[in-house]
Amino acid sequence: MGTWRLGEGSKEKYQQEVATLRYGLNQGITLIDTAEMYGQGAAESLVGEAIQPFVRTNLTIVSKFYPWHANAQKLRTSLAASLKRLQTDYLDLYLLHWRQDTNLAEIVKNLENLKQEGLIHQWGVSNFDVADIKELLNIPDGNQCFANEDLYNLGSRGVETSLLELQRQQKIRFIAYSPFGSENSRYLEIKPQLRQMARKKGITVHSLLLAWVLQQGVYCIPKASSIKHLAENLTALDVSFSDDELSQLNMLYPRPINKVSLDMI
Ligand SMILES: NC(=O)c1ccc[n+]([C@@H]2O[C@H](COP(=O)([O-])OP(=O)(O)OC[C@H]3O[C@@H](n4cnc5c(N)ncnc54)[C@H](OP(=O)(O)O)[C@@H]3O)[C@@H](O)[C@H]2O)c1
Repeated sequence: MGTWRLGEGSKEKYQQEVATLRYGLNQGITLIDTAEMYGQGAAESLVGEAIQPFVRTNLTIVSKFYPWHANAQKLRTSLAASLKRLQTDYLDLYLLHWRQDTNLAEIVKNLENLKQEGLIHQWGVSNFDVADIKELLNIPDGNQCFANEDLYNLGSRGVETSLLELQRQQKIRFIAYSPFGSENSRYLEIKPQLRQMARKKGITVHSLLLAWVLQQGVYCIPKASSIKHLAENLTALDVSFSDDELSQLNMLYPRPINKVSLDMI
């Protein structure tokens, strides 16, 4: 479950969002993605409250730090604040939110230290493209990178040209964000033929979009702030596509032939 923009509304909305995350956890979803950036800590605090009734070791909590918090001292301060808001004493996965002008060798060393101390179980990156991953793999312990989190949906398929394959080879998990093109599908055009296909299959457009991402064999972190939306998204787990439907989707939303620059929000 994604959490961007959670915890930023009214008191009623906050309660609804806590209930939504708890509903998801009760339905067997185990991974929650958050970041120190989201609502300047508000999303992490909300997650911290939502997970209280659950057994911590059954959950996978992912958070992210700003690139400008990557030096040894600031990273410790950032992590401590995230852990406090999340009411936990470790993160399952800690990600560099985006590359910016960071010194990867220094970051890896700092993250490996936090891992040795048990404060994080794994570390990874986000918004990394092929060149960044290759650079990472060339520095000491860079191959310890557990995951890269990038934008990936039916309308944004650039990662298919080479990044997905590189990550598979290197056993770096791929976490797909914004499967619906983010809020109001701002970054994904919902074409009439897509609506038609969903109607024919007896599913919603959101269910179709999510099922398509999941069928690529990657992790995915859709965000929903109501039980209604989350319940609808869970139906994606039962959706499959015929070869004919996949060809139609490939025609409607073709994957780029040549490498394109990475889309990000
Ligand atoms: N690493 C990064 O740089 C990065 C960047 C962006 C996002 N992320 C992560 O990825 C997560 C997902 O991405 P996202 O939040 O950008 O966008 P998203 O998951 O593609 O879309 C979220 C939007 O879809 C709506 N929605 C969800 N289920 C729906 C349904 N069944 N019917 C109708 N609308 C539905 C949500 O509305 P409601 O809220 O009203 O349910 C929300 O407006 C984020 O929350 C965040 O954790 C990471």
